[in-house]
Amino acid sequence: MTAITIPPLSSGLVRVLIDADTIQRRVTELARIITKDYKDVEDLVLVGVLKGSFILLSDLSRKLGVTHSVDFIALSSYGNSEKSTGNVRMIMDVRENLADKHVLIIEDILDSGYTLDYLKRNFESRRPASLKTVALLDKPDRRVVEVEVDYIGFEIPDVWVVGYGLDYAEKYRTLPYIAEMEPV
Ligand code: PRP
Repeated sequence: MTAITIPPLSSGLVRVLIDADTIQRRVTELARIITKDYKDVEDLVLVGVLKGSFILLSDLSRKLGVTHSVDFIALSSYGNSEKSTGNVRMIMDVRENLADKHVLIIEDILDSGYTLDYLKRNFESRRPASLKTVALLDKPDRRVVEVEVDYIGFEIPDVWVVGYGLDYAEKYRTLPYIAEMEPV
């Protein structure tokens, strides 16, 4: 087996906030809990919110011990800015009909709450059998809209973070760790 090379911190990255092993352990733990919670459920669909959730969804999905399908939705409210506009736009909808399905939304980060609030309202109107949410990271200090999340990986302080799906101007998404960065 080939050893995995951990990329060094590049310029602009201040420190590793959550290392790769810690992320993997927490994702495994979340998968164990979710597997238990959905053990008697048929028609579970994981919906990844693009782009940021693509790595979490692929790791979590492969660790789940329950049969499920995967789908994706693309939303955006940030563009290349640091602050959510609050104006959430749907760029691409899911392909599956969510009616009567057990839907689990997969998010990389909960910040202002605008995105998840929009998505939960939107999905509720499609009459799913159940609707729950996973967010790897939660920045409670940034919340503008109160939104309930069922499975949270880590609470983090109000710093700009990249890696494990999260970007800065489309860079750093494939880092295996979460790093704090100082936007330039
Ligand atoms: C990020 C992130 C969440 C959302 C959370 O998406 O992936 O979807 O912001 O922020 P909020 O709680 O303030 O709404 P972004 O719009 O940056 O798109 P991306 O996932 O394609 O990078």
